[in-house]
Amino acid sequence: MGAVTTVIIPAAGRGTRFLPATKALPKELIPVLDRPVVQWGVEEAVAAGLRRAVLVLGPGKDGVAAHFAPDRELEEALAQAGRAELEAVVRAIAELTSVDTVEQPEPLGLGDAVRRAGELVRGEPGVAVLLPDDLYVGPRPLLAQLLDAYRIHRCPVVALRRCPPEAISRYGVVAVEGPGPVFRVTDLVEKPAREAAPSDLALMGRYILTPAVFAALETTTPGAGGEIQLTDGLRSALAAGPVVGVEYQGTLLDVGTLEGWIQTLVQLAATDPRLGPAVREGLRAAGLAVVPA
Ligand code: G1P
Repeated sequence: MGAVTTVIIPAAGRGTRFLPATKALPKELIPVLDRPVVQWGVEEAVAAGLRRAVLVLGPGKDGVAAHFAPDRELEEALAQAGRAELEAVVRAIAELTSVDTVEQPEPLGLGDAVRRAGELVRGEPGVAVLLPDDLYVGPRPLLAQLLDAYRIHRCPVVALRRCPPEAISRYGVVAVEGPGPVFRVTDLVEKPAREAAPSDLALMGRYILTPAVFAALETTTPGAGGEIQLTDGLRSALAAGPVVGVEYQGTLLDVGTLEGWIQTLVQLAATDPRLGPAVREGLRAAGLAVVPA
């Protein structure tokens, strides 16, 4: 039975929430500590054993793929400057994974982005999807947790997190059967009104998809927000067989909003050996009491 080897990473959104920073800079290249957001996603996928990334790029996003391309000139310059450590860091990025790209010319939705990657993963029994707007921190890569369930159930797998009622309408929401943490999904709704949410279990941005989902996306029509929704494709795929949801361990940190990004930066930097002192100094300068690390 073929293993899952590919992760699809949609990088097509316009990054409106980060304007004006994202006027020329793709939001996936905004840094968190020393790495752009998208590299965190690729590193999670590699840590979960995946070996190939398919980036779905909107207009003006070529820089996202360029980040993973070899840059011999830069390596050479760093070597000559005696910066061997940095040279190794730069080279390692290009060696992380093989990268293919596919275009999404218009922002027609996550379902459309994933569908466009379908032609590059034809014949693969299962494919991972990772939305780079959330960084995973925790004991075991989130995609690895989903792959554990995929290996047992051989069906689409979604990542689930319990969500407070006031936030539920920002997410895809599922109805489930079973005691968990691995559930059988019986329904999925994209961004329901609070009163209409079938549970408090929200879809988070990690998936394992099967050919049945790609087939369903071919006929999925625009849904919530007028966009073609991956959630609706998964819902149609329920007719072809089970879908499993995993209430995962660990934490996703939101870097898809300015507020979430800043909070994530402070949280990660404060406990980083190199950057921690600077963060604490900054907080002190802002007049905030800081508990010493
Ligand atoms: C997307 C999905 C949604 C999911 C969310 C997780 O929404 O459509 O089902 O809950 O990601 O972050 P978006 O955040 O792109 O609006």
